[in-house]
Amino acid sequence: MNIVIAEDYDQMSRIAADTIAECVRALPDCVLGLATGSTPIGTYECLVADCSAGKVDFSGVSTFNLDEYVGLAGDDPQSYRYFMDQHLFDHVNIDKASTRVPDGSNPDAAAVCAPYDEAIFDAGGIDLQLLGLGHNGHIGFNEPADEFPVGTHIVDLTERTIEANSRLFDSADEVPRQAYTMGIGTIMGARAVLVVVSGEDKAETVKAAFRGPVRPEVPASVLQLHPNCTVICDRAAASAL
Ligand code: GLP
Repeated sequence: MNIVIAEDYDQMSRIAADTIAECVRALPDCVLGLATGSTPIGTYECLVADCSAGKVDFSGVSTFNLDEYVGLAGDDPQSYRYFMDQHLFDHVNIDKASTRVPDGSNPDAAAVCAPYDEAIFDAGGIDLQLLGLGHNGHIGFNEPADEFPVGTHIVDLTERTIEANSRLFDSADEVPRQAYTMGIGTIMGARAVLVVVSGEDKAETVKAAFRGPVRPEVPASVLQLHPNCTVICDRAAASAL
């Protein structure tokens, strides 16, 4: 595992965007795994600017997002599909038909989850997976648990995650209680993984995840076993290392 310490959020975002742009330039039809949350917003801003400047071409790229709330359709402003459209897809030259997010409007988990993993497999697997880090060590919506879930599945969100994500809703009551998420196996299957982490409030989580023992109670710790994983922290997030 390669840990890169950036000066601040902007530099973290720039390095992450450069890594993604290099992947796209090397493999114009690459498959990207993408993440939501506030942390990758700056990365997407850099990619939008790079695309507008003609430095990166998304026309051959396909994408799979990590997760989606169950019960939210893609046109719901709180959905992760909406987030991706707003922050990236609507502003770069990607073919929208090549962008996939688990279908939160479908309550039938069996109809959503296994086909999602099959679609990733059929696309040739994920070349580069971007991840954020939850305060409790979650990646995607793989919450602390007794075991590492393998494939895409439905999860009950923890109170901590509901509370953390409630800042983006009018109230905690409006945060969906369940989500579809890629599994740890899906994420570990990516050929390269890129984690972005910012802020002092994540410093202890960074230490537990990337310097502590590998255990499902800290889901991100499994990334220590990935053969090609880079973590980009800003100074504040790296302050407990
Ligand atoms: C959500 C997402 C995760 C994300 C995490 C951290 O729960 N499901 O994929 O990494 O939040 O978000 P933030 O970057 O806003 O701290």
